[in-house]
Amino acid sequence: MSAEPILSLRGVSKRFGGLQALGDVTFDVRRGEILGLIGPNGAGKTTLFSALVGLHRIDSGSILLGGREIARLAPHRVAALGLTKTFQNVALFADASVLDNVLIGGLLRRDVAGARAFAAECLARVGLTGIADKKAGDLSFPERARVEVARALATEPTVLLLDEVMAALNHAETAEIVALLRQLRAEGLTLIVVEHHMKTVMALCDRIVALSFGRLLASGSPAEIARHPDVVAAYLGREYVG
Ligand SMILES: Nc1ncnc2c1ncn2[C@@H]1O[C@H](COP(=O)(O)OP(=O)(O)OP(=O)(O)O)[C@@H](O)[C@H]1O
Ligand SMILES: [Mg+2]
Repeated sequence: MSAEPILSLRGVSKRFGGLQALGDVTFDVRRGEILGLIGPNGAGKTTLFSALVGLHRIDSGSILLGGREIARLAPHRVAALGLTKTFQNVALFADASVLDNVLIGGLLRRDVAGARAFAAECLARVGLTGIADKKAGDLSFPERARVEVARALATEPTVLLLDEVMAALNHAETAEIVALLRQLRAEGLTLIVVEHHMKTVMALCDRIVALSFGRLLASGSPAEIARHPDVVAAYLGREYVG
């Protein structure tokens, strides 16, 4: 893991009318780490992801990807530079095939034929072969989670933002996705993971950043976050002991 951050947020703020959804958020993401992003419902986690990938224009602050300012770039430019997110409440095209859903991600860098071939590779990479022709609307929750990841991988990210991809999964299914995410990290990706299930977050992540009401509450190792008084008060309810 290199000391130079792959992603740096400095004073990132975003307001929706009277609501300060993100207030002066500053933290770094290290190259090759799995960073957890936690906080209560409405804390601003999804808003932060959307701001990072250019879907929300931030009001102030700076977002550096590999040292380059990306805060005011269009989403396709951010994706082309290697930063991609999955969507909370899975946004697959239900009537399209699995392959076509993944192919969409691949169109960022390839023509249709190239994207089609690459989509098959991405499906294999997430452990999904043999369902390429299935309708996305007919998938089980664990299959959908993998297809979401495959579609994001099809954009060839260096930093992948995962917004509650494990939310609908049971214990065994979660463990399989955790193994997949570890494998992606071993292949060189940097991951930021939003999940509410604390046991999963604590076991998966190298470091954790906690948000509340759009503000950074704390950042640190899982052990530090589990007993951080502000995180306990705002989110965990009690010290997390696993
Ligand atoms: N497009 C929008 N317009 C107006 N307000 C929004 C918009 N998107 C989010 N918000 C508000 O911003 C705040 C942060 O929402 P966000 O979805 O980022 O929270 P979250 O941390 O992802 O929550 P959850 O854990 O429930 O997914 C909430 O109060 C939400 O209602
Ligand atoms: Mg959210």
